[in-house]
Amino acid sequence: MNSGKDPVLVALQNWRSGHGLPGLLYHDAALYEREVQRIFFRSWLYVGHQSQLPQRGDYLLFEIAGESVIVVRQGESAGQIGAMLNVCRHRGSKLCDAATGHEARFVCRYHGWTYGLDGALRGASHMPEGFDRSRHSLRQLQCRVFAGLIFINFAADAAPFELLRDDMAAPLAPYGLEHTRIAHRQNYPITSNWKLAVENYCECYHCGPAHPEYSVGHGRAIPKPEWDHLMHEILARAPQMGLTQHHIRRMWLDAGAFGVDRSFERYPLLRGHQSGSRDGARLAPFLGSITGFDGGATDFQLGPTTFGLAYCDHVLLYRFTPRGLRDTDCEITWLVNESAVEGRDYEREQLIWLWHVTTLADKSIIERNQAGVDSRYYEPGPLSPMEDFANHYLRWYVATMSDTAGQTERLRSGGQHA
Ligand code: FES
Ligand SMILES: [Fe+2]
Repeated sequence: MNSGKDPVLVALQNWRSGHGLPGLLYHDAALYEREVQRIFFRSWLYVGHQSQLPQRGDYLLFEIAGESVIVVRQGESAGQIGAMLNVCRHRGSKLCDAATGHEARFVCRYHGWTYGLDGALRGASHMPEGFDRSRHSLRQLQCRVFAGLIFINFAADAAPFELLRDDMAAPLAPYGLEHTRIAHRQNYPITSNWKLAVENYCECYHCGPAHPEYSVGHGRAIPKPEWDHLMHEILARAPQMGLTQHHIRRMWLDAGAFGVDRSFERYPLLRGHQSGSRDGARLAPFLGSITGFDGGATDFQLGPTTFGLAYCDHVLLYRFTPRGLRDTDCEITWLVNESAVEGRDYEREQLIWLWHVTTLADKSIIERNQAGVDSRYYEPGPLSPMEDFANHYLRWYVATMSDTAGQTERLRSGGQHA
C-alpha cells in the first residue's frame, strides 16, 4: 500500500488499540478486496469435516469471495483429501455445480475435458498433436486434514499448516475430533461486513444483555472469588482431561500477515452446567478420551475465521465466510461422538437449541452494528476489558492489513509471539 494519501491506510494507522475500527474500514470496497487477497487467500480455512467425504470420489464445494473450490476424497486412507479450483483449464467453465456429490472423474460440460480425482487432465478430444495434458491439471490448493477437520489454503507459500497443528493438537486431543461426526450444520447469513461478525464472536461483553439463555450456564457475571474458585478446580482436574496448565490458559499466537493464528482457553461452566443445554445436563455421550465432566469448556480458534467451542459431549465449529463487502455467512457445525445415534443418544433439537437462539440474536446485533457504523458521524468508542480478545483480533487485523516487508520475513521463518 502506498502510505500517506490512501485514506484506508491512514485509518489503519490511526486506529487506537483499545477502540473499535473506524467506519471506513467496514464499507470500503477496495479494502475488502485487499482483505480477501491478504487474509482469506493466504490463510488456512476450515472447509469441512472428513466424515462428509467417506468414499473415494465424494466431494464438497467450498465457496468464498467469488471463488469455488472442489474438496474431494482422492483415496481411501486417512488424509487422502485434496482441493482444487472448480475452474476448467480449457476456457474456464465451472466444473461442479452441486454443493456435494460423488464423481469417478470430473467432466467439463462445455467441451468435455475430463479430469481425474487428483485434478490431472485425463482426456481432451480434438486437441492438436503435441498438446501436453500434463500442463493443464486443475489448479491445486494446499489441503490438510487435522483432527478430522479439512483446511485449505489458496497460497502455495503460505505459512506452514504445521504451526497451527502443533499448537492446537494437545488442547484439542481430549475431544477426539477425528472420531466425531456432524449432527447438524446450519448457515446463518449475516448482512454485515465480516469483521463485525468476527468481532462480535470474539467478545462476551454483549452476552449479558443479549444472550439470557447462554448466560445461565456461561460467562463471567459471577463474583470474582467464585470464578477464581471454579477456575482453580479446572486447573486441578486438568491432568484427568489429558491437559497441562499450559493447555488451559488463554493463548494467542499469530503469524500476522500470513494468517496463521490460533487460540484456546479453558474456562468453567456455571451453576452445575455440564454442557450448553437448557437445564445444564449433558446432551450427548462423552467425546474422545473424556470419561467424566471436569467443570469446563474450551474456546478455540483455528485460523483467522474459524472458531470453536468444545463441551465434554459436543463441539461447535463456527466458520465465518465473506460473501461480499456486506454479506457474511456464519456456518455452525455441531459435532458429536461418531458412535452417537440421533434419537437414542441425543436429540437434535436439544443439541442445537442454545447456539441456534444465541446465533439468531448475534445476527440481529451484528446487523444493527453495521447500520450504526455506516453513519457518517460514527466514531469508534473505547473497548471494555471484557473485549480484550476482540482487541487482540483487531490488533492482528490492523497489523496484517498494514503489512511490511519486515513482518513478512518474520512470518516466513515461522516467528510467533504469545
Ligand atoms: S471450458 Fe471446459 S472443456 Fe472447454
Ligand atoms: Fe453473541
